[in-house]
Amino acid sequence: MKNIVEAHNLTMTYRVGKIDVHALNGVSFEIREGEFVSIVGQSGSGKSTLLHILGGLLQPTAGIVKIDGEDLASVTDAQRTDIRRRKIGIVFQRFNLFPTLSADGNLRLAERIRGSAAGNADRRAKILKLLNLEPRIHHKPIELSGGEQQRVAVARALINQPALLLADEPTGNLDTENSKIVLDMLRKLNAELGQTVVMITHNPEAASIGQRIINMRDGRILDDQETRKG
Ligand SMILES: Nc1ncnc2c1ncn2[C@@H]1O[C@H](COP(=O)(O)OP(=O)(O)OP(=O)(O)O)[C@@H](O)[C@H]1O
Ligand SMILES: [Mg+2]
Repeated sequence: MKNIVEAHNLTMTYRVGKIDVHALNGVSFEIREGEFVSIVGQSGSGKSTLLHILGGLLQPTAGIVKIDGEDLASVTDAQRTDIRRRKIGIVFQRFNLFPTLSADGNLRLAERIRGSAAGNADRRAKILKLLNLEPRIHHKPIELSGGEQQRVAVARALINQPALLLADEPTGNLDTENSKIVLDMLRKLNAELGQTVVMITHNPEAASIGQRIINMRDGRILDDQETRKG
C-alpha cells in the first residue's frame, strides 16, 4: 500500500510579538492508503497545527510533508493551494457552508472552485446519497440540522475525490445522536470506499473508530498505536 502522508521532522514555531510559540517540535509519521487515523491529545498540544500543515493551509517552519507523493513544504503558496484542491478534503468543527446556497449548490460551488466548471451531477448525486442527504439537497444551511450541515460539509470535502480527508473535531458542535451519525458516515467512507481519513477528536469513543490513534503532547507524538481493529 502506498503512503498518502509522509511527515518528517515537522516543526512549527509561531511568532507572537517577540515570543516564539513552539507548536510542533519534530513530528514524524507515515499514513498508508486506506488508513483511518485518529489524533488525540490535550488542548494546545499541536493537533490543529499539524492538521493545517497536512492540509496545505499552513507552511511548517521546518521539515518535510508529502501528500500522495507531492511535497507541500517546499513549494510556493499557489502550488500548495493547487495540491490542496486536487488531493485534500477538509472538514472543520464549524461547518462553514455558504449560507445562501442549497446543499447541492454548496457542492457545485466547491466543484467550480476546484476548476470543474460543468461539475459532475452523477458524482454529486452519489455522494449525497451515500451521506443520506438526498431528501435535503434543495435545503439551505439554515433549513438543515447541525448533523445534516456537517454531512453536507463532508460531502463538499469529498467532491474532488481527495486522496486524504482531514477532519478537525468534526463532531465538536454536534449532540450525541448527530455525532454518532457523522462518525458512522466517516467510518463507512473508510471501510467501504477505502477513503484515507485523519480525524482530530477529544472524544475517546470517537477516536476508537480509527485503526490507529496518534496521541500528541507538547508538539510531539507521545504514542502512535494500532487499535484492536488495526
Ligand atoms: N496562529 C497562531 N499564532 C500563535 N500561536 C498559535 C497559533 N495557533 C496555535 N498557536 C499555539 O500553538 C499551540 C498549538 O495549538 P493548536 O491549535 O495546534 O493546538 P490543539 O492541539 O489543536 O488544541 P485544541 O485541542 O485546544 O484545539 C498552542 O500553544 C497555541 O496557543
Ligand atoms: Mg485544535
